[in-house]
Amino acid sequence: MLLSYLRERLRLTGTKYGCGGGGCGACTVMVSRYQPGTKTILHYSANACLLPVCQLQGAAVTTVEGIGNTRTRVHPVQERIAKAHGSQCGFCTPGMVMSMYTLLRNKPQPNMEDITVALGGNLCRCTGYRPIVDGCKTFSPESNCCQANGNGAGCCLNGDSPPERSENLFDQEDLLPLDPTQDLIFPPELIVRQQDYQLFRGERMVWVSPVSLEELIQLKTSHPQAPLVMGNTNIGPDIKFKGAWHPIIISPTRVQELFEVTKTPQGVCFGAGCSLSVVKALLEGLVQEIPEEKTEIYRSLLQQLGNLGGQQIRNVASIGGNIVSAYPNSDLNPVFAAGNCTLNVVSKRGRREILLNKDFFVGFGKTSLKPDEIVLSVFIPVSRQGEFMRAFRQAPRKENALATVTTGMRVMFTEGSSVVKELSIYYGGVGPCTVSATKTCAAVIGRKWDEQTLSEAYTQLLDEISLSPSHPGGQVEFRRSLTLSLLFKFNLQMLHKLWEMVWTGSLFALIGSLLGQSGDDPVGRPIMHRSAISQATGEAVYCDDIPKMDGELHLVLVTSTRPHAKILDIDISEALRVPGVVDVITSKDIPGKKFRTFTGIDEGILAQNEVSCVGHMVCAVVADNRKQAKRGAALVKIAYEDLPGPVFTVEEAIEKQSFFLPQRMIERGNVDEAFDKVDHIYEGEIRLGGQEHFYMETQSMVVVPSGEERELKVYLSCQHPTYAQESIAETLGIPSNRVSCHVKRVGGAFGGKVTKTSIIACITSVAAWKTGRAVRCVLERGEDMLITGARHPVLGKHKVGFMNDGRIIAADLHYYANSGNTADESLLVIEKILLHLDNAYNVPNLRGRSVACKTNLPSNTAFRGFGVPQSMLVTENMINDVAMKLGCNAEEVRGQINMYKEVSLTHYKFEFDPKNLLRCWDECKEKSDYGSRRKSVAQFNQQNRWKKRGMATIPIKYGIAFSDGFLNQAASLVHIYKDGSVLVSHGGTEMGQGIHTKMQQVASRELHIPASLIHITETNTSAVPNTCPSAASFGTDANGMAVKVQYCLGSPHMDIQPIDQKQNPEGTWQTWVTSAFIQRISLSATGYYRGHDLYMDWEKQEGQPYAYFTYGACCSEVEVDCLTGDYRTVRTDIVMDIGRSINPSVDIGQIEGAFIQGLGLYTLEELKFSPSGVLYTRGPSQYKIPAVCDIPLQFNVYLLSGSDNPHAIYSSKGIGEPVLFLGSSVFFAIKDAVAAARVEAGMVGPFTLNSPATPERTCLACNTPFTQKVRRCHHLCFCCQPILCFKTYCDSQTRIRERNHRLKLISITQQT
Ligand SMILES: Cc1cc2nc3c(=O)[nH]c(=O)nc-3n(C[C@H](O)[C@H](O)[C@H](O)COP(=O)(O)OP(=O)(O)OC[C@H]3O[C@@H](n4cnc5c(N)ncnc54)[C@H](O)[C@@H]3O)c2cc1C
Ligand code: FES
Ligand code: FES
Repeated sequence: MLLSYLRERLRLTGTKYGCGGGGCGACTVMVSRYQPGTKTILHYSANACLLPVCQLQGAAVTTVEGIGNTRTRVHPVQERIAKAHGSQCGFCTPGMVMSMYTLLRNKPQPNMEDITVALGGNLCRCTGYRPIVDGCKTFSPESNCCQANGNGAGCCLNGDSPPERSENLFDQEDLLPLDPTQDLIFPPELIVRQQDYQLFRGERMVWVSPVSLEELIQLKTSHPQAPLVMGNTNIGPDIKFKGAWHPIIISPTRVQELFEVTKTPQGVCFGAGCSLSVVKALLEGLVQEIPEEKTEIYRSLLQQLGNLGGQQIRNVASIGGNIVSAYPNSDLNPVFAAGNCTLNVVSKRGRREILLNKDFFVGFGKTSLKPDEIVLSVFIPVSRQGEFMRAFRQAPRKENALATVTTGMRVMFTEGSSVVKELSIYYGGVGPCTVSATKTCAAVIGRKWDEQTLSEAYTQLLDEISLSPSHPGGQVEFRRSLTLSLLFKFNLQMLHKLWEMVWTGSLFALIGSLLGQSGDDPVGRPIMHRSAISQATGEAVYCDDIPKMDGELHLVLVTSTRPHAKILDIDISEALRVPGVVDVITSKDIPGKKFRTFTGIDEGILAQNEVSCVGHMVCAVVADNRKQAKRGAALVKIAYEDLPGPVFTVEEAIEKQSFFLPQRMIERGNVDEAFDKVDHIYEGEIRLGGQEHFYMETQSMVVVPSGEERELKVYLSCQHPTYAQESIAETLGIPSNRVSCHVKRVGGAFGGKVTKTSIIACITSVAAWKTGRAVRCVLERGEDMLITGARHPVLGKHKVGFMNDGRIIAADLHYYANSGNTADESLLVIEKILLHLDNAYNVPNLRGRSVACKTNLPSNTAFRGFGVPQSMLVTENMINDVAMKLGCNAEEVRGQINMYKEVSLTHYKFEFDPKNLLRCWDECKEKSDYGSRRKSVAQFNQQNRWKKRGMATIPIKYGIAFSDGFLNQAASLVHIYKDGSVLVSHGGTEMGQGIHTKMQQVASRELHIPASLIHITETNTSAVPNTCPSAASFGTDANGMAVKVQYCLGSPHMDIQPIDQKQNPEGTWQTWVTSAFIQRISLSATGYYRGHDLYMDWEKQEGQPYAYFTYGACCSEVEVDCLTGDYRTVRTDIVMDIGRSINPSVDIGQIEGAFIQGLGLYTLEELKFSPSGVLYTRGPSQYKIPAVCDIPLQFNVYLLSGSDNPHAIYSSKGIGEPVLFLGSSVFFAIKDAVAAARVEAGMVGPFTLNSPATPERTCLACNTPFTQKVRRCHHLCFCCQPILCFKTYCDSQTRIRERNHRLKLISITQQT
């Protein structure tokens, strides 16, 4: 593929690997081709990971390196994304840049929709997208308008009230202009190049590329089984992920007939090779050109095309390829079929026409085409008078996600009446292929389109589309419900045009000022991330960008396929026979300690005798390159003996008492006694699923043995280099002083690169140690997701006692965290869960218990928030239940009634002042215009039956720092060179959170020199030893103080000040430094910060585990489509107290990024396991993180003014983690909307909605007549649905029911 060719052969490492399957956009490049027909150059963005190099003959490929760099000229796109703070860890940035660059090559003045469409195929895990869009928006003529009133009427530039905007986060005045004349030209030699038949022979494959249709027919006749590779978006992933192999591949991308487009009055005929983007663009033109009533089918196709894949996929995927791939959930096939489209096919026998209908789709990935037939073109007719067509899809994410259910529906009425003449309904996602609801249609044809007919149609449909309980992908009840809801929507659409929401952009207000501060002092200013430009140009070096060392080997891990089993034998003989395989590393090869000990519990580095989860690391194959190592790994044979009773769920763990000890408990007041005195008691529960870190850069490392004195240099992407250093030294049995760990930058971590990276680094080091050669280990996305664990799923139960006025008097909360097969940091996570269970509420009698359940799933680990997002969700859910029980507003129960109001003690007896918590709460309600919008929401809900709006305001009080005091120390090292330049090292790792930028600001303020003179070097255990993890939102606090103290406390060696002030007051920094050197004053110093003396005594249940609290509040409003469970965040307002921000743009970036990550956690991201503990969700195709389409339509972030914090540097506050929990405001807003829908079904009072509130859960919770109908249907017993389907392991009740039912089925089968 082009990606490996670029990175490995050409050493162009700006193009990144993020997933390898077309799902993340990190590898985006621009492809340009000459179009002989139109004599124009076509530019399109594409995923390099799916682009076969052989197919690029005659094409020009532009990578991020080609458009600009820091040595010559940075391209305006690179500059603007960087300056708009759109690059944090930077790993996604080159891909974003290339998507935007391609858009500008085609349309130099794009509108907002163009921009969001162009970025739709690119994922970012750090920024929350807003700053990226803001940077790109500067190219749009619409960008002068703030967009706060939408892009329709009411533009602020028309004199309508402009919104307040107190300070911009970046200056738009001095941006480089876009000058298309500076762009690279298309190489002229590619225009005149002769087109001839090509044949490439590889080791195992032949690639043939014909030029004429005759040649193509000839080839297909001789090799009927050979696939025709067009966009490679089906064949490519099949080869890569499913091990498909084709000895011959035919690439007909140069056969002109496959790209011809013919327009006639009857319709349009697209060559089968036309890309979906070309189809989309032409249809968009046609709907403008011809009368609207003729474009029903075109508009339905456009509806689907807008959401199909990302732009990069649509740019290469062909219309013919989509049809022939015959995906069960293809978005286009139901529309083609319902729309009476036809195929023109050709073979040696001649041409024929095939109607695209139910007879064409014959099974999973199968059509009625003969093996030697080639689809030449697809004909799409115009619609006729009285004919209407619609397409709908429901997917886990609005865009760039395969649909759960998708449909095309067409009706034709008899002229002048509502009698149905023709009806055609096709679905995807409800069978092995596109299916037709033929019987339902037949039952409706000839009848009036009225309530009676449709009511019978729903019943008929339910009968006709009967999914098997083992339907791939599961969600049987949801899918069946969707078939009905989508038909109902079709019915509604015949009557109404849906109200469409528009992007309204974002608005920022930086409250507070820098009055009285010197203009040269960078602290408090929105300084751009210091590496943003090099990240945007692709020059920033990540771990896998380090050039290959001489003799370097690649390591691939071999993992267990059993959840719990004894290892009987590991046979490596076949693996060793693979050419290039050098060795296989097992536990026996570890020279030192074979396990890591964390919180007193041992965890094996490689499994020795037993495996305890699917994904448990057993051994590792090292070979000359990755492909060989992978081939070797596939041939390692492990013989197992399964052990009985694997445990997957917390219920099973409770039943078997499978826990990591100790369990924790904390209590204030007397909860049991208080329950006797309350007006009401209510018990409820909530489950929160796990969350994959999905850092864009997967786990990566290179270990280089130095060859003498047993030294190792380790380059890795991690948050805790010292832990990696210690682990490696112990594993190898050598002192720590022989291992130096280097972290230049990390492409996202979020807690997932502390312990897990260290263990993989230990294995890689053993391989390097044993072979004496450099070894590189870079996990593929699927391996990373399988092996490295996630956020802990939690089951939370509450019993709450409260009064008629809403006062909560007593609460008893239980938390069960699913830790997986090793303890890792779980015991610390369950402690933090208990320390935050009060959130913002003063509950006088409060008790919490938490336990880490040991299960046979991959070990879970730290994740941004470290248990707090789980803990507080349970608390807030309890508050919600109280409000629902009393029938009052949840915000009143939260704010007016139960929130801490005055200086108080927490449940662990830590005194704090909630003044700023209350200010955030009040300000949030005011800024969001909560009161009047609440009324509008109620009004909206009264007027709309199938759409409901909901609102929720959530507060947060988040403890900052590590409760183990020793983890709060930090050190730094500064060298001043004779030319005045300054080099600073500190213990924090740069993971996108901007710590190096902030340290540069601190050093600049302290030394009174421009930041440009200061360079922050890599984090290196040889420069600054014994560092603490960059985590707990404490990196800036600790390292900032370490950088600061070496100046302000007057390190004895840093005595430049006297020279500066007394001896040469007129001098410059450079002259003072030179004088200091001449006077033999050391120009090098270390700084050390001891940190706060924090502790928590669990025996006494008291302590001071935090340095201070970060406060905030967030109000979100959503609109839910009750028929499908789809939702949209209409508006979010966040007010945060982060003290005096050192860098508002960096901090706002953290706020937005964390919020969007929280929104993903609570509403979108779902890990799915098989009943035997196999993780199914191993890439962006199955696991959906938020994309650009998920940003709230209006997103306002406010920083609380006048807040001081005496406990941290320059009065700032830690902000990395707290806001993630505020994503739950969207969850509770959804729950609020669902509650409104349930009222229509006559259901009031508390109900359980588990997290994430996916469309499936939301739709089923709304309890519409359609879901009720599905439930009532006895064709399918509910409890037998998910037997073989994917189901979250958190849904253990269902799992237990599943298992019982399965047993029942087995016994029934045996009896019969
Ligand atoms: C990340 C990602 C997201 C996606 N999202 C969606 C989505 O949301 N909705 C959706 O519907 N699809 C989606 N897809 C699927 C995508 O639309 C199809 O893979 C694509 O349309 C196939 O076209 P292609 O040109 O890439 O086919 P290829 O992979 O090149 O070929 C696919 C098959 O079609 C056959 N074929 C191709 N052309 C012809 C021809 N002219 N005559 C006969 N046989 C032919 C080939 O022999 C091969 O078997 C997604 C794919 C990816 C990778
Ligand atoms: S690496 Fe190519 S799309 Fe993810
Ligand atoms: S900046 Fe986008 S993934 Fe990190």
